[in-house]
Amino acid sequence: MSLFSTPFSPDRDAAVVTGAGNGIGRAIAQALVGEGVRTLFADVREDAVKAAIAASARPDLGVPWVGDLAEASACDALLQHAQSTLGLVTHFVHSASPPRREVDHALAVDEDTWRRMRAVNVDAGFHLARGLARSLIQAKTPGSFLILTSLHAETPRNLPHYSTSKAALAMMVKELAKSLGRYGIRVNALVPGAIAAGGFVADPALARHIPLGRLGKSDDLAPMALTVLSNQLSGYVTGAAFVVDGGLALTNWFEPPIVD
Ligand SMILES: NC(=O)c1ccc[n+]([C@@H]2O[C@H](COP(=O)([O-])OP(=O)(O)OC[C@H]3O[C@@H](n4cnc5c(N)ncnc54)[C@H](O)[C@@H]3O)[C@@H](O)[C@H]2O)c1
Repeated sequence: MSLFSTPFSPDRDAAVVTGAGNGIGRAIAQALVGEGVRTLFADVREDAVKAAIAASARPDLGVPWVGDLAEASACDALLQHAQSTLGLVTHFVHSASPPRREVDHALAVDEDTWRRMRAVNVDAGFHLARGLARSLIQAKTPGSFLILTSLHAETPRNLPHYSTSKAALAMMVKELAKSLGRYGIRVNALVPGAIAAGGFVADPALARHIPLGRLGKSDDLAPMALTVLSNQLSGYVTGAAFVVDGGLALTNWFEPPIVD
């Protein structure tokens, strides 16, 4: 049997993906149903959830959920809906994040924008991951969680509410990976570079700073996401951060040499 022929166990596995209505979350959720995994597509936008499921390879495996993850009660409702529709959830992807707006710099960002960024990224991510982990521990079943962080967990973005929440998520991944490892639950971070999706208004000029010569697409993230989520392929990987950025993180003030 080929190593890559059965990355998931469709009879047992089920996934929850937040932010599945657009961009990277949508690409990962669609790839999961493409592998036969029953997947809850969670997002605040109903039209986007419906369209994402309809455009997937297996709409029959997609479960819609619509709600505002900035509210703790919505996170509880999501957990309940996932349990009643999917049963035990073995895989979790947290991709939801409010839009980044360049006007929200350090002296401009208002309290509500600051609070919502933290609530959706950090509070919902922790609440959902812990709720799903409790069910897995009770069922004595392994699981795999993947949290979308950012290169801006480590470098400023001129958007302090965003970068600080991503830095918190990066540590949350390590805390959960350390605590949950003994129960067979793996927790990792996926770190995108400049991906032309809804959350980032991409300036094509940025491509010049990217060693692989182009901005990323949401679909560039899905193969790595599924590889890390798969217990068959990455069963001994936890607490790690996987950078998928075309080499953007290598950029500094030295231009690369011409070597041919
Ligand atoms: N695009 C990039 O270049 C990039 C770079 C680094 C990190 N990331 C991270 O990857 C993830 C996905 O980014 P993207 O560019 O695909 O974003 P996106 O804006 O295209 O998608 C985010 C989704 O989250 C949903 N969402 C927002 N607020 C919500 C809420 N309160 N409740 C429920 N759903 C909500 C949106 O409706 C949207 O469908 C984010 O966590 C982002 O921080 C993206």
